[in-house]
Amino acid sequence: MTAAARHIQERIGGFVPRTGLILGSGLNDLAEAISPEAVFDYADLPSFPHATAPSHRGRLILGHLAGHPVACMQGRIHLYEGVDPAALAIPGRTLKALGCANLVVTNAAGAINQAMRPGALMAITDHINLMGANPLAAPHDDADGPRFFPMNDAYAPVLRSIARDAANQNGITLHEGIYLAVTGPNFETPAEIRAFATLGADAVGMSTVPEVIVAAQAGMGVLGLSMMTNMAAGLADDAPTAQEVHETAALAAGDMGRLIASVLERLA
Ligand code: HPA
Repeated sequence: MTAAARHIQERIGGFVPRTGLILGSGLNDLAEAISPEAVFDYADLPSFPHATAPSHRGRLILGHLAGHPVACMQGRIHLYEGVDPAALAIPGRTLKALGCANLVVTNAAGAINQAMRPGALMAITDHINLMGANPLAAPHDDADGPRFFPMNDAYAPVLRSIARDAANQNGITLHEGIYLAVTGPNFETPAEIRAFATLGADAVGMSTVPEVIVAAQAGMGVLGLSMMTNMAAGLADDAPTAQEVHETAALAAGDMGRLIASVLERLA
């Protein structure tokens, strides 16, 4: 168990979160819907890496969302912040140790597949890791899971099917596709985006993949949800900007929130 998990468990009584939730860029306000049992600043959690991105608050919120016990990371830690990649394993392992069997990861992404426009939501079916880093490239402890393990169903088909049902019932269009991760922090070049399209990527972003690798090792079921906040570089008249990412995320956050709540209701 991580030192952070021990610290939390000593302070939350008998509360057991069943689903971990990681909120991406511009999506932090989704945590406002949680009825909190306990809130921790990352800075107060031993060994926990801190977020520094301006729009990423660093708080772990335990409580109920749509009646379901969750542990929500309001603000994630990105590789582009210069953290040791191995430190990105700590949040996922902490959520697992607290009792989370599933992990819902959200992110803002640039659309490469032109069937998706800004504001569109996509369930991640698979990923391509072009970050050049891996949180598990570190000394191994069998307690965290196996050293070598498959990623074939890292994005659990059963959770995706639940998300499809939830989207249908709420009148939300949910695309499916492949998320390609780069380190950032710069947006991509148009040539990179053309190359990523030939690799089969539908969306590009700067997060999620390290967390999903850790969750897969830990045996957690993952639902990955991307929000297209912009067309990827070269696919729209204007280059992507951080402002566009946050403005679009704010506009489409309602759909993402309703989708997540509806998924959690089905997990109860
Ligand atoms: N590229 C990488 N990350 C992103 C983008 C993008 O276009 N949009 C939101 N996150």
